[in-house]
Amino acid sequence: MTLSSTAAFTGRFLPCDATRAEPRRPRCPRVRCCRALPECFDGERLETPSSSSGSSSSSSWDGSSYRGPYGRRAFLASTAPLLLSLGASSRSLNSNASPEYAPEGETDLTSIVRAELRKVLSKAKAAGALRLAFHDAGTFDMNDNTGGMNGSIILELDRPENAGLNRSVKALGKAKSELDKVQDSVSWADLIAAAGSEAVALCGGPFIPVQFGRVDASSPDPEGKLPEETLGAADLKKSFSEKGFTTQELVVLSGAHTLGGKGFGSPVIFDNAYYKVLLERPWAAAPPTGPSSMSTMIGIQSDHALVEDTECLRWINIYAADQERFFDDFKKAYIKLVNTGASWRDA
Ligand code: HEM
Repeated sequence: MTLSSTAAFTGRFLPCDATRAEPRRPRCPRVRCCRALPECFDGERLETPSSSSGSSSSSSWDGSSYRGPYGRRAFLASTAPLLLSLGASSRSLNSNASPEYAPEGETDLTSIVRAELRKVLSKAKAAGALRLAFHDAGTFDMNDNTGGMNGSIILELDRPENAGLNRSVKALGKAKSELDKVQDSVSWADLIAAAGSEAVALCGGPFIPVQFGRVDASSPDPEGKLPEETLGAADLKKSFSEKGFTTQELVVLSGAHTLGGKGFGSPVIFDNAYYKVLLERPWAAAPPTGPSSMSTMIGIQSDHALVEDTECLRWINIYAADQERFFDDFKKAYIKLVNTGASWRDA
């Protein structure tokens, strides 16, 4: 039995884009590929109208009886301890495997990692895990080709914008120690990317497949690359555009703020409440207002800015009206986010 170091899933059990038996896409010639350009990224451009709402697969998790979206995942999760012990004799990772597919019947590293993640994540920890993924990947800058999904967040926890993320890293660290006991192929970047995906699924959002094989950076990314919360819409668009993301992707990824305590519905349910609340503009409510009123505490300045921008508002309206569309587009944008700026083991 071999573990596939880079395979995300077999094509047999994911009813998503990854199941299509397409030939492997040509590799981007750049050593440090941003995977954000059309020729690098295999996802459709998000501006393309969603082909089918049925292509997104939402999973439910009640905290105790999670079965995952598909039976095989559930089987793998339940047999993970066995697979982990077998993994000790499976150090020869299959580096020839396609990043997109594992050969049929091969043990799936991703399932093992996800099983470990499910032991350390809870709904209460989901928001932190998803934010962690953005703070690792969101440092990418196309201008100087620095930053991105490279695990360097581990070296940047003392930065003010990363306040509180040490708790998420500590939780994921437990999973990493367990995984490190049986094989050495899971980088921090991979683990954080998978943790953000698990966090979304845990809270009822779409199931997002994550490709493995990222290499961790050995030094911190340049400072000041994450967008500040005080930015207006124009600067947010510019910031995201410098990371290779469109305005639509800015709006759909900002929907992650549906998790956490900023007042966009339940803090532990991943849904389209973010957009519905944005349209209500509760922070602009009539008196009583004031610095401590509940309505002024909803969202952060960058959230408020999005709804005042015509282009962003168009997408906010779409996602407020159509949760499946939000899930589908979020899934694609998240995959792009966690591939942004990554260096790959087999590149
Ligand atoms: C558009 C630019 C963004 C800005 C300026 C921004 C800024 C912030 C700020 C200031 C917080 C509050 C942190 C706190 O409570 O101390 C926050 C929370 C959060 N952010 Fe963002 N963010 C942005 C985009 C994103 C993206 C793209 C994602 C993920 C895809 C994300 C995920 C989260 C999550 C899940 C939380 C809640 C964390 C928690 O409650 O523990 N954010 N963000």
